[in-house]
Amino acid sequence: MDLVAKETIFLTLFLIALSSVESVVSIRQWQLSGQPLGDEHLVTNLPGQPDVNFRHYAGYATVNEQNGRALFYWFYEATTHSDKKPLVLWLNGGPGCSSVGYGATQEIGPFIVDASGNGLKYNPYSWNTEANMLFLESPVGVGFSYSNTTSDYNILGDNFTANDAYAFLHNWFLMFPSYRKRAFYIAGESYAGKYVPELAELIDEMNNDPSLYIDLKGILLGNPETNDAEDWKGMTDYAWSHAVISDETHKIIRKSCNFDSNDTWSNKDCKEAVDELLNQYNEIDIYSLYTSVCIGDTARSDDKFTQIMFRRSFKMMPRILGGYDPCLDDYAKSFYNRPEVQKALHVSDGHRLKNWSICNYKIFDEWLDSKTSVLPIYKKLIAAGLRIWVYSGDTDGRVPVLSTRYSISSLGLPITKSWRPWYHQMQVSGWFQEYEGLTFATFRGAGHAVPIFKPRDSLAFFSAFLLGESPPSER
Ligand SMILES: *[C@@H]1O[C@H](CO)[C@@H](O)[C@H](O)[C@H]1NC(C)=O
Ligand SMILES: *[C@@H]1O[C@H](CO)[C@@H](O)[C@H](O)[C@H]1NC(C)=O
Ligand SMILES: *[C@@H]1O[C@H](CO)[C@@H](O)[C@H](O)[C@H]1NC(C)=O
Ligand SMILES: *[C@@H]1O[C@H](CO)[C@@H](O)[C@H](O)[C@H]1NC(C)=O
Repeated sequence: MDLVAKETIFLTLFLIALSSVESVVSIRQWQLSGQPLGDEHLVTNLPGQPDVNFRHYAGYATVNEQNGRALFYWFYEATTHSDKKPLVLWLNGGPGCSSVGYGATQEIGPFIVDASGNGLKYNPYSWNTEANMLFLESPVGVGFSYSNTTSDYNILGDNFTANDAYAFLHNWFLMFPSYRKRAFYIAGESYAGKYVPELAELIDEMNNDPSLYIDLKGILLGNPETNDAEDWKGMTDYAWSHAVISDETHKIIRKSCNFDSNDTWSNKDCKEAVDELLNQYNEIDIYSLYTSVCIGDTARSDDKFTQIMFRRSFKMMPRILGGYDPCLDDYAKSFYNRPEVQKALHVSDGHRLKNWSICNYKIFDEWLDSKTSVLPIYKKLIAAGLRIWVYSGDTDGRVPVLSTRYSISSLGLPITKSWRPWYHQMQVSGWFQEYEGLTFATFRGAGHAVPIFKPRDSLAFFSAFLLGESPPSER
C-alpha cells in the first residue's frame, strides 16, 4: 500500500471514529508532521471493541536484533489532552505473567475482557483518563513477547528483564517520538515490586548520559514483593492474624523459621508449618481472602490459579506466583487466542497464530536471578528525588499489607504525615502515612490486584499520585 493511500485510510478511519473538531485538527497536524513509525501499529478493528475517542496502538518493538527478541506492547493514549499528560508504563509480575492479560484487560485499561470472552467492555475508571498508558509484556516468553533464539529463554531473570525493558523503552520512543521527553512514571504490582524499582534504577543510572535521558519522575507499587524475608514474615503473621492458621502453627513458624537465612527450608519444623499455611490457602483465594474461588471451570489445564504455586527448587526462597482472579483469566485466554484479535493487535497475520496464555509457568519455574530485597534501590531512588508511592489492598494474603509495612518500617524513614484515613466518595478508602521520600496507603477491602476490587478509588489514588498530592484526608 502506498503512503498516500494509507494516510487516506487512516484519516478516514479517524474521521469515523472521532467526532470532535479538535481531534480532527490534531490528527491532520499529526499526519502532516511526518509519519511516526508507530502509526503502523494503530489498532483500528479490534473485535468487540467499544467506540472510543482516543487512539490506541499495539505491536512489537525489537529489543535485540541479533537474537531476534521482540516485546509486545499495547499503548492507549489518554482520553483527553494526551499531548500534555504523562506517560505511565504498567508492569504485572509473576514472574512470567502478562501485563496485557492482567493490567490492561482486567484492572486499569479502557477495555475489559467481558465474561463471554467474545468482546470487550468499556472501563470508565481506566487509568488512561489520567495518563497515556503503556502496557508491556515482559520478558520474552510472556504473552505475545518472544525470542527467535531459544537459549534466551534459559537466562531469564530480574537483570535480563530490566535490560530488555530498558531497550524496549528507547525503541518505543523511536516509534513515538512525541513521548520522548514526556514526564514518565513506572507502575506495577506483585512481582513487579521487583521489576519496577530495578528498571527505575537502570534508567536513573543510564540518565547520566544526556542522549539517553528519560524524564523518570516516580514509581507506583501495588502489593509489591519487596524484601523476601519481610514478605514471608508478613505472610505468616497475616495468615495467623486473619484466622487462616492456628496459634500453634504460627508459634512453630515464629520459633523455627529464619526467613533472613538462605536455607530457611532446611529446618523441618519450619517447612512443615509453612506447608500447613499453604494448605489452608489452597482452599481459598490467597489473593482475596473474603471472595469466592472460581469453581467448576473445566477449561483450565495449564492455568492452575486455584493452586498456590510454590517452588522449593528455587535457590534462595521458594516463591509463590503472583496471580489474580481465577475466572477472568480463562476469558482473557480465549479472547487473545482469536485470530481476528491477534491480527488487529499486529501480533500475527491471523493464520499462523501465537499461543497466548496469561502466565508462563516455565518462566516462573526457571527464573534465574531474583533480588532478595529492592529496599536498597528504594533508598537510591529516594535520594535521587523520585516520587515513590506504595499501596496495599488489605485483604491480600499473598503480599499482605503486613509484609509491606514491615519492609517500609525497616527503611526507618522519618514520618512527615502520620497515619490517617483517606477518603473517596465520602467513605474511608483506606489509611495512609507519609514519609520523607515515600507515601504508603492501604485500600480497605481490596485484594491483591487492587483496581479490580476498587476501580473508582484506585483511579482517584492514581490521580493524586500523578499530581504528587496527598490522597484526600477529609470526607
Ligand atoms: C523472528 O523470526 C521471524 C521468522 O523468521 C521473523 O519474521 C521475525 O522478524 C523475527 N523477529 C525478530 C525480532 O527479529
Ligand atoms: C545484566 O544483563 C546485562 C545485559 O543482558 C549484562 O551485560 C550484565 O552483565 C548483567 N549483569 C549481571 C550482574 O548479571
Ligand atoms: C548462604 O549464605 C552463606 C553465608 O552468607 C553462604 O556461605 C552460602 O554459600 C549461602 N548458600 C547458598 C545456597 O546460597
Ligand atoms: C499452547 O500452549 C499450551 C501450553 O501453554 C500447550 O498445551 C498447547 O499445545 C499450545 N498450543 C499450540 C497450538 O502450540
